Amino acid sequence: MNYIGIDLGTSAVKLLLMQGDGKILKIVNREYPISFPKPGWSQQNPEDWYQETMSGLQELLADSDKSQVAGISFGGQMHGLVVLNDEDEVIRPAILWNDGRTAEESEYLNQVIGKETLSLYTANISFAGFTAPKILWMKKHEPENFAKIHKIMLPKDYLAYRLSGVHCSDVSDASGTLFFDVKNRCWSEQMCKICGIKQEWLPKVFESYEAVGTIKAKLAAELGISEKTVIAAGGGDNAAAAVGTGTVGDGACNISLGTSGTVFISTKNFGVDKNNALHSFDHADGSYHLMGCMLSAASCNKWWMDEIIGTKEYAHEQEAIQALGENHVYFLPYLMGERSPHNDPDARGAFIGLTMDTTRADMTQAVLEGVAFALRDSLEVAKSLGIGITRTKICGGGAKSPLWKKILANVLNICVDVPESEEGPSMGGAMLAAVACKEYQSVEEASQAIVKVKEVITPEPDLVARYEERYQQFKEIYPVCKPLFHLFK
Ligand code: XUL
Repeated sequence: MNYIGIDLGTSAVKLLLMQGDGKILKIVNREYPISFPKPGWSQQNPEDWYQETMSGLQELLADSDKSQVAGISFGGQMHGLVVLNDEDEVIRPAILWNDGRTAEESEYLNQVIGKETLSLYTANISFAGFTAPKILWMKKHEPENFAKIHKIMLPKDYLAYRLSGVHCSDVSDASGTLFFDVKNRCWSEQMCKICGIKQEWLPKVFESYEAVGTIKAKLAAELGISEKTVIAAGGGDNAAAAVGTGTVGDGACNISLGTSGTVFISTKNFGVDKNNALHSFDHADGSYHLMGCMLSAASCNKWWMDEIIGTKEYAHEQEAIQALGENHVYFLPYLMGERSPHNDPDARGAFIGLTMDTTRADMTQAVLEGVAFALRDSLEVAKSLGIGITRTKICGGGAKSPLWKKILANVLNICVDVPESEEGPSMGGAMLAAVACKEYQSVEEASQAIVKVKEVITPEPDLVARYEERYQQFKEIYPVCKPLFHLFK
């Protein structure tokens, strides 16, 4: 049978059709707009997600045997707030994971309710992009909208609802709301009270590989697929990507170089980093994970290429980069503020170290390196917890660049295992659908059967040493710039 994985990303929805044995049959990509109504704010229209997903599904299935489709599942951008009224209509545009408007509400949760209390109830502290502070923001700034709330959904869950009619979520995505008791895999009554919401506003939670229902008959007819097609809960995009790259079991690592950049470490046992610098979330395979998340990763390169240099020739631009580990230009990649490890919505991007002989290639290189250094910041936190990572998988748009992968392997000083497909979340979504349909008995079994590594990038000692020096310099820049960031509010 065949399975569909839907990755509801920030810039586009990616749809992937997978054969039961893991062979990718087709991939379709559909973009939609994102609006930045104020600096540091970001919103999307959930109807755009649905429309692009439906037309993407039509295209995905156009020349395949539709009777073979057994299940559909998701990986989705996390933390976004979708609010529905009592007729299940969207009340306002979704506020996304990289929206920093809730600095005050997040500060209130961390300082007044207290980090220890939050960590006790949810295993996490508040970050501006999480869902709970967005609810507090709505209550204060849009009381008329808050009064209409009947359901609180996450982005991919809204899609699952439109496809199946079931209000559902999954443990991995629910973990990022700050309404969720990660350890016990259920909503936290205490957090609902603290934020003044009713628990019935939250959807029913499933394990990521569980079926929530079947596709609505009308949609099945429109798409030409069976009414018995299973809709499985799916995962937050990072957990789904981890499934898609085979990052399951204890101590496995995946780096996602998408709009955001994440360091994802799977763990069999529940655990919390004592400073909560890493998120402690449920994994889509039934276990747990720790994760560091930077808000702008491949998006920094996209911004630099598309908006500033004005080119789509990313590979050509990178060919001009010669000497690794010798760049005197540094780039702070905080274009949307930063989450891990600084938790600073006011942080901003910066180039520093420019001289008259700085070239365009040096600046392009600084962007790629700045992202790698910022990912290393998260890996350092993991190291400080005694978690030794010696190798990682990689996925996301940025993973298409051989140069960026080499920079990462050497900045992080770990081997990078490149899976056959860099389509993490959509592949993971399709695999979760396959597990829900019992093609595989567990997520672990599916990942062992399906995921293959096609290349290993090994760090080179000389380059690692040069990058070690550069990283130590990079680390000095943010603390010095931090007191200036209030100027740009
Ligand atoms: C994770 C996070 C991002 C988004 C990107 O905590 O906020 O990785 O999920 O889609």
